[in-house]
Amino acid sequence: MDLFREKALADKVVFIAGASSGINLGIARHFAAHGARVSIVSRSADKIASAAASLVADGFEAIGMAADVRDFSAVEAALKQTHAQFGPIDIVISGAAGNFIAPAAQMSSNGFKTVVDIDLIGTFNVLRGAYPYLNKPGASLISITAPQGTNPMMYQAHVCAAKAGINMLTKCLAMEWGAEGIRVNAISPGPIADTEGMRRLSPTSESDAALKSRLALRDYGTTKDIADTALFLASDNARYITGTVVECDGGCKLGDASPMAADEYVIRA
Ligand code: HXC
Ligand code: NAP
Repeated sequence: MDLFREKALADKVVFIAGASSGINLGIARHFAAHGARVSIVSRSADKIASAAASLVADGFEAIGMAADVRDFSAVEAALKQTHAQFGPIDIVISGAAGNFIAPAAQMSSNGFKTVVDIDLIGTFNVLRGAYPYLNKPGASLISITAPQGTNPMMYQAHVCAAKAGINMLTKCLAMEWGAEGIRVNAISPGPIADTEGMRRLSPTSESDAALKSRLALRDYGTTKDIADTALFLASDNARYITGTVVECDGGCKLGDASPMAADEYVIRA
């Protein structure tokens, strides 16, 4: 498949969970622009209807349904409807997530559970729910994880635990489902500009500047950076890639590993 061809995903059916906004809606739009038929879901009926309407208004083939990823039967119903309307599913993106900043000592058990339920259990529900409806061999499943899945971060115990679980789930499903020609991978975005995720983690221009100084590439990524990575992983060009977490993160973990930000070193002339 030539990824640079205008309709590289023509006739492909894509199911995307958590696509009423942000990165996942960006992936939906990018895939639709490459010719895919996209089915998007999220919790809020209003938000997902308006996201789907915006795709249709741009001339794309898209449907939207409300489903809370914590509810397996709701996810199953959305997948069943997608299959009935569009046929077997070629590509699944599991990206629904929740986050807030909270020190572990002040986090309630339900606060921790809520994020693990949405991110990790929700991802199992989406991928397991999709299994009977996949077009195989050749199906590509992609979860959206985060740097928190490999690097511990302050006040992010819930997200770190949930995303680490997604990384391991990716590898286990890749092993179990590879024989049927199903590839299972994850993308780990770094800080992505103009997203709800970054509004919650970095609320001021000062915190943005401090964070950028710790990134190898010194800037936030865009939703298109993640959509391009997803397009590659979803395509046959990635036919021999499975069980991986692809980092599209501006080198943010390299920055985290350094003891000081670059600007804090004094270099002698
Ligand atoms: C402490 C909090 C809290 C906060 C909620 N809780 N917000 N605890 N600090 N700021 C606690 C509540 O008190 C409650 O526990 C429990 O969490 C569940 O809260 P609800 O509001 O009932 O949950 P729910 O309606 O299901 O909403 C889920 C949510 C919410 C995660 C809390 O923020 C949400 O809907 N988020 C979706 C959008 C989002 O987060 N997008 C960003 C994704 S970015 P108690 O004990 O009181 O019952 C991301 C990672 C980005 O995932 C990585 C960037 C590098
Ligand atoms: P976002 O716009 O808030 O996207 C989260 C999506 O999940 C929304 O569409 C939300 O829609 C949906 N959602 C939340 N709870 C749900 C539930 N229980 N069931 C179904 N859908 C649910 O945030 P974003 O920043 O673009 O993040 C998207 C993904 O990228 C997440 O997986 C996040 O962890 C990951 N990520 C983001 C960044 C970043 O810089 N932003 C970095 C690394 C990783 P509803 O409210 O309608 O349900």
